[in-house]
Amino acid sequence: MNKKPLEKLSAAYRLLNPGCVVLVTVGDENRDNIFTVTWNMPLRREPGMVALLSGKRHFSYPYMVKTGEFGLNIPDASIAEAVLGCGSVSGKTEPDKFARFGLTRQLPVHIKAPLIAEAVGSLECRICQIVDLGASSLLIAQILSATVVSEHFQAGTWIFDNGLRLLHHLGGKSFCVSDQALVVGS
Ligand SMILES: Cc1cc2nc3c(=O)[nH]c(=O)nc-3n(C[C@H](O)[C@H](O)[C@H](O)COP(=O)(O)O)c2cc1C
Repeated sequence: MNKKPLEKLSAAYRLLNPGCVVLVTVGDENRDNIFTVTWNMPLRREPGMVALLSGKRHFSYPYMVKTGEFGLNIPDASIAEAVLGCGSVSGKTEPDKFARFGLTRQLPVHIKAPLIAEAVGSLECRICQIVDLGASSLLIAQILSATVVSEHFQAGTWIFDNGLRLLHHLGGKSFCVSDQALVVGS
């Protein structure tokens, strides 16, 4: 997908506003990987910050700790199978989730991990704090850059007129989609 930088990076957190499931990309010079994350949230507008919760036993986890970086890619419903797949199969046994789930690497600007070309939006993030929660950690990160398919995101908000269907995880193999905006008030 042809994504363009947002007009204002301060609007990047709004890519996450509907609380959609994301595909997190990690990697170094030798290896990359993808895993699915439901537990993510925007934290601050300027500078833009996000948080995500990651299990420490995930193959991806040490890559995030070592590089201090990750990519955060926002899928739409057209790649729902890949979203489930990247969250069901580990990089410990699958050397290339991109190939396995039909995803394409897109060159990042600021980080080593590739982004996902099929995602409707992508954020490049640098970790600034890791909060140890036992079996998992909360990773707090600054948004370094963000790109989005411009027909789907204008004036700092998602636009659903062109068939966008954002994906939300309900649990297990169940998802729901958001496909229209509701403007309340006059
Ligand atoms: C829909 C979905 C949502 C998920 N959300 C999270 C999450 O928020 N945090 C997390 O640590 N794991 C989450 N997982 C589990 C990981 O994505 C999964 O364990 C993955 O296989 C880890 O990949 P890795 O071992 O290659 O790093 C989710 C899985 C699915 C299918």
